[in-house]
Amino acid sequence: MAVPVDVSAMVSPAKVGYTVKEAWARVPEPLTKEEMEAHKQAILQALKAQNAALVAHYYVAPELQDLAIESGGCVGDSLEMARIGREHPATTLIVAGVRFMGETAKILSPDKRVLMPDLEANCSLDLGCPPQAFSAFCDAHPDRTVVVYANTGAEVKARADWVVTSSIALEIVTFLHQQGKKILWGPDRHLGNYIQKETGADMLMWQGSCTVHNEFKAQELLDLKQQYPAAKVLVHPESNAEVIALADVVGSTSRLIQAVGELDATTYIVATDQGILHAMRQKAPHKTFIAAPTAGESATCKSCAFCPWMAMNDLVGVRRCLEAGSGEIFLDEELAAAAAQPIDRMLAFAAAYKKHIRASGDLSKDMQLFAKVGAA
Ligand code: 13P
Ligand code: SF4
Repeated sequence: MAVPVDVSAMVSPAKVGYTVKEAWARVPEPLTKEEMEAHKQAILQALKAQNAALVAHYYVAPELQDLAIESGGCVGDSLEMARIGREHPATTLIVAGVRFMGETAKILSPDKRVLMPDLEANCSLDLGCPPQAFSAFCDAHPDRTVVVYANTGAEVKARADWVVTSSIALEIVTFLHQQGKKILWGPDRHLGNYIQKETGADMLMWQGSCTVHNEFKAQELLDLKQQYPAAKVLVHPESNAEVIALADVVGSTSRLIQAVGELDATTYIVATDQGILHAMRQKAPHKTFIAAPTAGESATCKSCAFCPWMAMNDLVGVRRCLEAGSGEIFLDEELAAAAAQPIDRMLAFAAAYKKHIRASGDLSKDMQLFAKVGAA
C-alpha cells in the first residue's frame, strides 16, 4: 500500500475567510423575532414571484431550514442538496450553505440562476485544497483514480474521476477497490482515513481537514460518555480517528439524523456542527441531545462546533439576494462541464445503488452484486 504523503506544505491559506476568526467576523448579527417575521414574509413573496427555491443545509440557522421546507424547497445533506437542486422545477435556486454547494448547484443546473446569501461562505476543506497544487499532486500519480470530496471548488472537481459526499463515499470507494483501482483521495484526510480503514482500499491522501470537526476531543468525549453511559454517540466522519473510534454511528448529516429516529436511546452525544440539532429535535422531540466537547488552541474553543461559514447565511442575506439579485454564482462553461462529469457519475451511482441494492448489511457483498447489476 502506498505511504500517504504529507502535502500540507502545499496548502495555501491565501483565500478569503481562511481562518475561523476571519470567518466569524463576517457572521451577521442576530435578528429580533419581529425582524425575522418581516424578512420571512418578504422572502416567501419573492420566492413565489421569481419561481425560486430555497435549498438549505442542515447546519444553517433553524429559521432558514424551516423556511426552505415551508416554501417548497428542501433541507438536506450535500448529496441531497445537489440532487434536489438539479431536479427542482424552479428557475432560480437560493443555496443556503457554503460556496461549494452553490457551485455544485450551478454545475448541475447551468440554465438555472444560482444565488447565495454570502459568496464568501467558504469551507476550510475547499480553502485548504488549492487547484494548482492538487492538480500537481494528481499529475505525480497518474496511475491512481482521483476521488474528491464534494467540499472542493469547481477546478478540483474538474480534475477528479469521481466526486463523493460523506453519504456515498464508502459505497463508491468499496466499488472502486473491488475493481482493483488505486485511489488518490482529497482533501479531507480524516474522512479518507476512515474510508480507507473500512474498505482496505489503497488510498493516497491529500492532508486537508475541517477546522470545525478538528476540534472534537476524544478524551473529553470519553469522559462525557462515562457521565451518560446509556447515550449513543453520533459522529460525522470529518472528525479525527480517535473521536470516530468512540462513535456508535458514523455518517453524513442525514445519516446521523436518521439514526436519531431509528435508535432506542433517549440521549445522544453529537459530534458535528450543532446546527444539525434542529433537525434532530424535529425528528425526535422527546430525546435529549448533547454537543460533543470541543477545545481549540490553549483549550479556548475557536468554533465551538459551529461552522462560521455556514453561519454567514441568514434571512437578511436570503432576502438581499432575492431582491437585489446579488450573490450569483458564475462559472466558466468549460470548467462547469468538466466538473459536472464526476458529479454526474456520483449521482448516477447513488441512484442505481438505491434502485438495485437493498443494503444487506455487508457492503462488500452489496458492491459485488452492484458491479453485476447496477454499474454502468
Ligand atoms: P454532509 O454531506 O454530511 O451534509 O456534510 C457536509 C459538510 O460540510 C460537513 O461538514
Ligand atoms: Fe466545511 Fe467544516 Fe464547515 Fe463542513 S463544517 S462546511 S467541512 S468548514
